[in-house]
Formats: sequence, C-alpha cells, structure tokens
Amino acid sequence: IKKITTHSLQAMKAGGEKIAMLTAYDYSMATVLDHAGLDIILVGDSAANVMAGYETTLPITLEHMIYHAQSVVRAVKRALVLVDLPFGSYQGNPKLALNSAIRIMKESGAHGVKLEGGAEILDSVKLILSAGIPVMGHLGLMPQSINKYGTYALRAKDEVEAKKLITDAEILQQAGCFALLLEKIPALLGKQVSENLHIPTIGIGAGKYCDGQVLVVHDMLGLNKGFKPRFLRQYADMYDVVGNAAKSYIRDVKSVDFPNDTEQY
Ligand code: KIV
Ligand code: NA
Repeated sequence: IKKITTHSLQAMKAGGEKIAMLTAYDYSMATVLDHAGLDIILVGDSAANVMAGYETTLPITLEHMIYHAQSVVRAVKRALVLVDLPFGSYQGNPKLALNSAIRIMKESGAHGVKLEGGAEILDSVKLILSAGIPVMGHLGLMPQSINKYGTYALRAKDEVEAKKLITDAEILQQAGCFALLLEKIPALLGKQVSENLHIPTIGIGAGKYCDGQVLVVHDMLGLNKGFKPRFLRQYADMYDVVGNAAKSYIRDVKSVDFPNDTEQY
C-alpha cells in the first residue's frame, strides 16, 4: 500500500485531483474508512459532540484526543491521519502548543495536527512546524470560538472578515502549513483562497472550488438525527439501519427466537 503523505496531497492539488477527507474516532470506523480509500482521516475534536455528547467542542481534553488518535492510528494503513489540538492546548502559549502537538505525535503515531486560527496562533503554528510536525490550518467557522461568535452560522460574509481570512490563509501558508481547512464560508471566498494558495484547501460548507472536502462521518452516515445543514450530503441512513437491527434483535430475544438450536453450544 502506498501511504498518503503531505507531498501526495500537494501533488493532488497540482494535478487537479480532489482530496477526500472524513473524520473518525475509533478503530472499527477507521478500518472501514481507510479500506474505502480516504486520503485523509481526521481525528476531529468533533469527537466531543458525536462521541461524548457535549454541546460544544470545548470540553474535550488532550488525553481524550490522544485516546481517539491511538485507536484510529492502529487501524489506518494508507490514509494521512491528522489530529485536532483541543481547546486550551495551544491558544496563547506556543510552548504549550508544541508540547501538546509532540504528545499527540509521540503517543498516537499520527501524521500531523490541526489548529483553529490565523494571526492569533501564528507563533504556536511556527513552533510546532519547527519540530517537523505537519500542520493543517483551520479558518472560517472555528467551533472552539463558539462563545465568541454566539452561533454556528456562515462566516466571512462581510468584507472585513473575508479580508482577514484571506490574509490569515496567506500567513499560514507562509509559515509552512501543508494545507488549510475552510469551514462554512461563501463558495466564492473558498474559490479565491484556493486559487490564491499553492497548498491545498479542504472545505466543509466552503463550496466546490476547494481542493478537497471533509465531513464529520457521523453526519454523512445519517447517525446524527436531525442535523441537516445545507452543506451536508447524507450518504446513508445509519440511524434507521442500526435502529432497525436493534429492534429486530429485541423482537427475537423477547420471542425466544434468538438464540436458536444452531446458535448455542
Ligand atoms: O472536528 C472536526 O470534525 C472538524 C471538521 C472541520 C471536520 O474540525
Ligand atoms: Na475540529
């Protein structure tokens, strides 16, 4: 198997091949996704929402992220595995940021990290990069800043925020980030940034002009009942698949149909 590297991703952008990325947080799901052929698997801090049931991504800890990352890395043979630095593990403190990134790389065996923010976290990004750790930037909607925004609505609709995003994208590329994630911004801004940069952009709700796309795997599988933002395409209805299997099992247990004679010792 030929492993995906940050260089393969760069070559995909140069060659016009779109990059496919999904999240995963555990061994079983990561096994399926890696066999399916994903280019990047992100151990997102969305684990706080879909794995742990928190309302925001803020409560998840570095220890939690390392646990999820270890489980995913054990499964993956081909994809590039990236891990989100969680809230509180990098902001405003480059040495803490480097320490957090090193712990993730050392204890999980992942291939790189992702941090939310531009100019505000530039020193942290640079110090992590100086240790030879690949960094994916993350601009646009940054869920770790939900208490600043107050909503998960579209970002960078106005000129001021759009201009800052374009500048932040440039300084992250200049610093040495190998890729940039763009979350929930107008498609034309996603186009402008993608054309402006030589590093690949990965979009979520950022339109078709990005160099790649990412979705939270629970959302695209339909496990996150009722979550239907415009940017989400649902590829399966796993809520019903799992629910119906559970209902059949319950029926069979109650009716003493399971186990039958061939299913016992
Ligand atoms: O945590 C996450 O799932 C993300 C998304 C942008 C995919 O960062
Ligand atoms: Na995230």
